[in-house]
Amino acid sequence: MPDVSHGTIDAMRAAVLGTGIMGSAMARSLAREGHDVTVWNRTPERAEATAGERISSCPSIADAVGGADVVFTMVYDAASVLDVAAEVVGALGPDAVWAQSTTVGTEGMRRIAEAAAQVGDRLLDAPVLGTKQPAEAGNLLVLVSGPAAARTHAQPAFDAIGARTLTVGDELGRASALKLVSNSWVASINAATAQAMGLAEALGLEPLLFLEAIRGGAADSAYAQAKGAIMASRAWDDPSFALDSVLKDVGLMIDAARESGFPDELLATLLALYDRASERGLGGADMSAVRAAFDR
Ligand SMILES: NC(=O)c1ccc[n+]([C@@H]2O[C@H](COP(=O)([O-])OP(=O)(O)OC[C@H]3O[C@@H](n4cnc5c(N)ncnc54)[C@H](OP(=O)(O)O)[C@@H]3O)[C@@H](O)[C@H]2O)c1
Repeated sequence: MPDVSHGTIDAMRAAVLGTGIMGSAMARSLAREGHDVTVWNRTPERAEATAGERISSCPSIADAVGGADVVFTMVYDAASVLDVAAEVVGALGPDAVWAQSTTVGTEGMRRIAEAAAQVGDRLLDAPVLGTKQPAEAGNLLVLVSGPAAARTHAQPAFDAIGARTLTVGDELGRASALKLVSNSWVASINAATAQAMGLAEALGLEPLLFLEAIRGGAADSAYAQAKGAIMASRAWDDPSFALDSVLKDVGLMIDAARESGFPDELLATLLALYDRASERGLGGADMSAVRAAFDR
C-alpha cells in the first residue's frame, strides 16, 4: 500500500502488462512521477525497449506482477486480457489492485470479471481516453468503476498516467460502457472529417479549405484539425491509434448497441468505412487513414 500522509505520496510499485503504444507511454508516465515500474510484453523486445530509469522489463507475467501495488493490463482486446488473466490472478499480491485498462467493451469486462472472480474485490474497470501524445504526457482521462477501496488504492497510479480520473460507479463494466460511448464520438468525428475532406476534393476544392472554414467556429474540434491535417498529407504511417483498433472498438459498440436494442445504423456505416480502409492494407496505419475509404 502506498503511504499517503501530509499530502505526499510515497512511491508505489506499478506493473504494466502490454507495452504497445499506450502501455509503454503509461509506464514512462508512472516512472516520471517517481513510481517503480515493471513491464512485461508478449513480444519481449518491446518490453525491453520500454525499460529505462525506474522501469525494468520482466521475462514473465509473474515476475512483473509479484510485489506490485497496482497492475495495469493494456493489451489489445478482451481475448488478449483473458490470455493473461490466470497468471495475473495467480501472482497478484494480497493488497494489490488490478486496473484493467484495455478497451474490451461491456461484455468483455464481464468475462474478465468472471475470470478474476478470486480477486474480484481488487479488480477495477479502468479504460482510458486520450491517445499516444496525452499518454506520453501523463494527460489521459482515466474512467474508473469498481470497488471504492480499490479505487482509492490505485489513485496515485491514475494520477501519474492521467490529468483527471472520472469515477463512473462501483459496478464493473460501467467505465467500459462510457469508454465505448466516448469512442463512438471519436470514431464518428474522425470518419466525418475524412468524408468532408474527400467531398471537398471531389468538388474540386483544396481539402485544407474545409479545416480553414470550420476553424474557431462552433463546429470546429481539435480532433478534426489534428486528424484532418494528417489526412491532407496522407502521413498516417506512424499510428497514434491504429485503424484496426478503431475497427475493433466499433465492433464492440455494435455488440453493446444490439444487446440494448439501440439503433446501430451509423455504427454499421462506421464499421464498413474502417473495414474498407483496413482491406486496403491500412489496418496498422493511424485511424486518420479512414480517409482512404473515400477514395474512388
Ligand atoms: N492508441 C490509442 O489511441 C488508444 C487510446 C485509448 C485506448 N486504447 C486501447 O488500448 C489498448 C492498447 O492499445 P495500443 O494502441 O497501445 O495498441 P498496440 O500498440 O497495438 O499494442 C497492443 C498490445 O497488446 C499486446 N497483445 C496483443 N495480443 C495479445 C495477447 N493475445 N496476449 C498478450 N498481449 C497481447 C501487444 O503485444 P505484442 O507487442 O506482442 O504484439 C501489444 O503490447 C487497446 O485496447 C486500444 O483499443 C488505445
